[in-house]
Amino acid sequence: MKSFLNVQDLGDLGRALAEAQEIKRDRYKFEQLGRNKTLLMVFFNNSLRTRLSTQKAALNLGMNVIVLDVNAGAWKLETERGVIMDGDKSEHLLEAIPVMGSYCDVIGIRSFAGLTDRAYDYAETVFNQFVQYSGRPVFAMETATVHPLQAFADLITIEEHKKVARPKVVLTWAPHPRSLPQAVPNSFAQWMNAADVDFVITQPEGYELDPAFVQGARVEYDQMKAFEGADFIYAKNWSCPGVTSPEDYGKILHDYHTMMHWTVDAEHMSWTNNAHFMHCLPVRRNMIVTDDVIEAPTSLVIPEAANREISATVVLKRILESLK
Ligand code: CP
Repeated sequence: MKSFLNVQDLGDLGRALAEAQEIKRDRYKFEQLGRNKTLLMVFFNNSLRTRLSTQKAALNLGMNVIVLDVNAGAWKLETERGVIMDGDKSEHLLEAIPVMGSYCDVIGIRSFAGLTDRAYDYAETVFNQFVQYSGRPVFAMETATVHPLQAFADLITIEEHKKVARPKVVLTWAPHPRSLPQAVPNSFAQWMNAADVDFVITQPEGYELDPAFVQGARVEYDQMKAFEGADFIYAKNWSCPGVTSPEDYGKILHDYHTMMHWTVDAEHMSWTNNAHFMHCLPVRRNMIVTDDVIEAPTSLVIPEAANREISATVVLKRILESLK
């Protein structure tokens, strides 16, 4: 596997899930695979889970790890070609990338959407520059439009906790005071569409996700109807994806104070089939989800985060195997 951005990059999902359980039984089974190999993790944005779980995954596989926080100690990087660099950015990504590639064998990138230029974000411009110019396998640690390590961990978690062969999984929009990217819901939709689940998306009008990710999923604007009979509720905020109104890309369409009826609380969960609650974290309590729901025994937010180590180990293992 030379790059990891989409569910298709992993091939057969059943095989990937079996591999996840194999690694879970013995996290160090493949610790020779990464000997004398170096992972470089490049962060353009903050992280807790991705940073720790991906580093742990690399250590499981015997790799060396180096981490670059672009906004803390590195030169400020220009990412667009053609810009006259007379501002505060001292180095261009097009020189920085091959330099970074010369110090490592595998590169992980965290680079969020800017949420101002939809075409630039949805072309995955920064990620694809790393693919093109680094000469190394590159994987997404949440890019402009996707967060596949999270979605893979989410799927592992659903497989581990489902009580019926084909559970109903609902992705619900929830309010937030700041504009957030669509990467998590995009990937969640993509991965749920590829998995054997009954997948429903619910959101207020105007927040329609890109059709490339929604594919054939049912979209239900009535949150209560969507929640009926659900086995898993996956909550997440996202800003306007600009599908029905391109001029609103990246915006919050309504004052969040008027949208608090979308917050997942005990009443919302009572509409479900005693569903598990899921969220990728970090989460704003009593905005996305109430204290009682996130603290309930049915909440999976901690096992879900723990499975990030497993999803990252599978992905890095596949990449290391392709280096042989
Ligand atoms: N879920 C997730 O990616 O968490 P971090 O932003 O803390 O890495």
